[in-house]
Amino acid sequence: MIVLKKTGRVLFHRNTILKLATSLFFGSLFIFSMYFLGLFSFYKGQTEISARLRYDMYEFCESLGFPLVMPFEMHTFSEKFIKEPLCVFWDVGEVYEASFIADILLKEYPSMTYHVTNMEFESLLHINRSLPHICKHNLLVTNNDESKILNILKTLQESGFDNRGIFLLSDEGCSKHCRDITRPYCDYIIRNYWCEAMNAHNNAYWMPLGYAIPFVEPNQNTILPCFMRKYTASFKGSLKSDRLHFIEYLKNSSIYNESSFLIQSTEDFHQGDPAYKFRGLLLDSQIAPCPAGINSEQFRIWEALSTASIPILQKGETFFKLPYDHPLIIVENVEEMVREIERLSNDPLEMMKIQCNVYRWWLLYKRTLQRQIVELILEGRHLNWE
Ligand SMILES: *[C@@H]1O[C@H](CO)[C@@H](O)[C@H](O)[C@H]1NC(C)=O
Ligand SMILES: *[C@@H]1O[C@H](CO)[C@@H](O)[C@H](O)[C@H]1NC(C)=O
Ligand SMILES: *[C@@H]1O[C@H](CO)[C@@H](O)[C@H](O)[C@H]1NC(C)=O
Repeated sequence: MIVLKKTGRVLFHRNTILKLATSLFFGSLFIFSMYFLGLFSFYKGQTEISARLRYDMYEFCESLGFPLVMPFEMHTFSEKFIKEPLCVFWDVGEVYEASFIADILLKEYPSMTYHVTNMEFESLLHINRSLPHICKHNLLVTNNDESKILNILKTLQESGFDNRGIFLLSDEGCSKHCRDITRPYCDYIIRNYWCEAMNAHNNAYWMPLGYAIPFVEPNQNTILPCFMRKYTASFKGSLKSDRLHFIEYLKNSSIYNESSFLIQSTEDFHQGDPAYKFRGLLLDSQIAPCPAGINSEQFRIWEALSTASIPILQKGETFFKLPYDHPLIIVENVEEMVREIERLSNDPLEMMKIQCNVYRWWLLYKRTLQRQIVELILEGRHLNWE
């Protein structure tokens, strides 16, 4: 008992309280100053880096003769667009293309979006009878079966929706030719995997696959000239098709070493890195080889373009629909892909020029796609994109 009392008295002794208060005061002062110091240097570091990098990339490309011109304005369209609203009917579950399509299709222009499945679509009509009069243009975004697409389009037509188009997604194997749905059921088809059979359609248009959810386009400030990037080339993905050969050829190449190349296989598309990590890798890679998987078209290409990494594509029929004057590198096979990587890494100036030219093209092309989609929706039907 006495011991306890003594301890108590000692604890609350005036000197002790003083000491305690003093150390508390200096302790918190220390912590606060460290905090502000840290915050300050973090902030300073951030602004310094972003100012330096932005300056670098624009200056860098301009000095090489490829100024990164600001993409043109398109407000001329918006007035008409507001008067003639677009209704977008999403008939898709979870698709990786959704964010790219939203960026291209819906970013510039206000539109009404309705999430529909077959059933919900019909109930939507029952609830809101004025919809066909409000929606001047109608676009069905779908990855459904051909017969179900046909049903929805018939419903749209019978309910009085004019100017109907469809955006057909995820048909990688070209199983949906949709021969029977253009006229009278819809005026045009946009699709993101091109198929030979689509050439027979008058009003079929191609859109690149774009980046996959959850990829987000990087801030311009984080984009570096190629000579400041850590990796000559990186590839992270599943080893479908010829990709294993590609890796063999690359590892046999005289330029290959483990510090400048990052090659990793992942089980499947879904099991790769989190998006920000994958993006970080692309941002730090000069070249992004894109050997064909199931298809030559792949998200990797467009993700690489967004990070100003140089994609090397493998020939595929989808790419015949690219604008004829595109600067993208397209090779016949994976051996040629490795030779291209060798060529570029042995010619740093050429690599820099290609980086700027390709990145500049992408910035403009993305704007062009946004404009073309709007033209297609508004003017509809008789456009020729090539
Ligand atoms: C029908 O939809 C339009 C557009 O979304 C809306 O403005 C209108 O209020 C709706 N009408 C009814 C009855 O819900
Ligand atoms: C890689 O090099 C080894 C040894 O030189 C050779 O046996 C092999 O066939 C080469 N592989 C490829 C894909 O060129
Ligand atoms: C690795 O390869 C790159 C590009 O080919 C080269 O610039 C670099 O010096 C090489 N590094 C080593 C350690 O060999």
